[in-house]
Amino acid sequence: MKSTPSSNKTSSKPGSKDSTAIRIGLDAKQRGKSAEILKAILANQHVLYLKTRNFHWNLVGPRFHSLHLFLEEQYQRLAKAIDETAERVRMLGEVSPGSMQEFLDEASLKECSGEAIHGLDAISVLRADHESVIRELRESIDKLSDLGDAGTEDFVTGLIQDHEQIAWMLRSHEA
Ligand SMILES: [Fe+2]
Repeated sequence: MKSTPSSNKTSSKPGSKDSTAIRIGLDAKQRGKSAEILKAILANQHVLYLKTRNFHWNLVGPRFHSLHLFLEEQYQRLAKAIDETAERVRMLGEVSPGSMQEFLDEASLKECSGEAIHGLDAISVLRADHESVIRELRESIDKLSDLGDAGTEDFVTGLIQDHEQIAWMLRSHEA
């Protein structure tokens, strides 16, 4: 069996700088590029999370109660995805953005101010946002594949599946 380069060494002393080096088969440049992709995803997740919560609060119309609960389920799913995305940035050795300003600067989605919104209008806005996110995530997956970052590629594939399910549920309400 061929032995591989020094990246397989595990002999660094505890506490030494080398002992905290990240040896996961991706160099710092690859990890940095993957993290940038995740940070852009994280920004849109925050906008979509807050928009969903805003509509959960400000919904009006005859199906208020069921839509109110329906949107609560969705923002809870988004909150979980947000946490996993930010922690994945950390796993790659980068620092996660943590302020609303950073998220707004990076996001491609636009936020909505708080005002009363009819159920069907809220559904239609959210469906369009989830679909837009899905299209962007597909591009991210292509880039991650080129970077050879299989773990993040798989993670983002899972995110797409979640958004696809939510978009389907929203679309079904519009029918
Ligand atoms: Fe609530």
